[in-house]
Amino acid sequence: MEKLELLINGKRLDGRAMDELRKISITASPIRNATGSAYIEWGNNKILAAVYGPREALPRHTADPDRAVVKCRYTMAPFSSLEEHGRPGMNRRAIEISKVTKEVFENVILLDLFPGTSIDIFVEVLQSDGGTRAAGITCASVALAASGIPMRDMPYAVSAGKVGETVILDLNKIEDNYSDADMPMAINPRNKEVTLLQMDGELTKDHFKQAVEMILKSGEAITKLQKEALRLPYEKAQERYNR
Ligand code: CDP
Repeated sequence: MEKLELLINGKRLDGRAMDELRKISITASPIRNATGSAYIEWGNNKILAAVYGPREALPRHTADPDRAVVKCRYTMAPFSSLEEHGRPGMNRRAIEISKVTKEVFENVILLDLFPGTSIDIFVEVLQSDGGTRAAGITCASVALAASGIPMRDMPYAVSAGKVGETVILDLNKIEDNYSDADMPMAINPRNKEVTLLQMDGELTKDHFKQAVEMILKSGEAITKLQKEALRLPYEKAQERYNR
């Protein structure tokens, strides 16, 4: 691929510092029909997540008599991408992202409590600008928490990568396309357990360490936003009650 200068005078093309997240805002429970839902705007990404269940696992052969099964469907809306590469809806990439997202949540949901059932997670990308799997996981995490399904922790995800010798946090699409490495990670913040680690490109041991440090540090801010989103509807209700 042609080279593109991603760092100019120590700043990124969108003006961010190397360890700076894009602007993130999260709304809990926008979809009333769902057991739990959330909407996230992460930079130019706009993503909805909805959770249904625990409900009877259908078709029946997908059920596990000992625990709940987690199913996940990540899709990009046909209008979500500026430049079309690959068809929207279910394709190889969507199947991969659905799989890794499902694995993140299998690790935190208390599945043993709901034998025979399925917990269905839908992640729908309405507008995309790089890092949608990480933003989708962060959003689905809030949707799950809003659903009341018991979890050991509330995961978040973000990616870090490398431009030349410089490690950067939270790559947008143009950075993703032209960087030397991109590494999305999902973390359970309580014990820093890693439940997703993918890598496109290469990082030295040192760069990997820097990237993980940035991801862990930014997690504090992401977790705070997730919790605020969950708290807000209750605070609004309390205000109405007090009036
Ligand atoms: O979104 P994420 O970074 O997790 O996945 P990716 O496969 O590395 O894709 C990077 C970006 O390319 C996406 O966020 C979209 O902005 C864009 N993309 C697209 O426009 N159309 C596709 N069919 C796939 C990706």
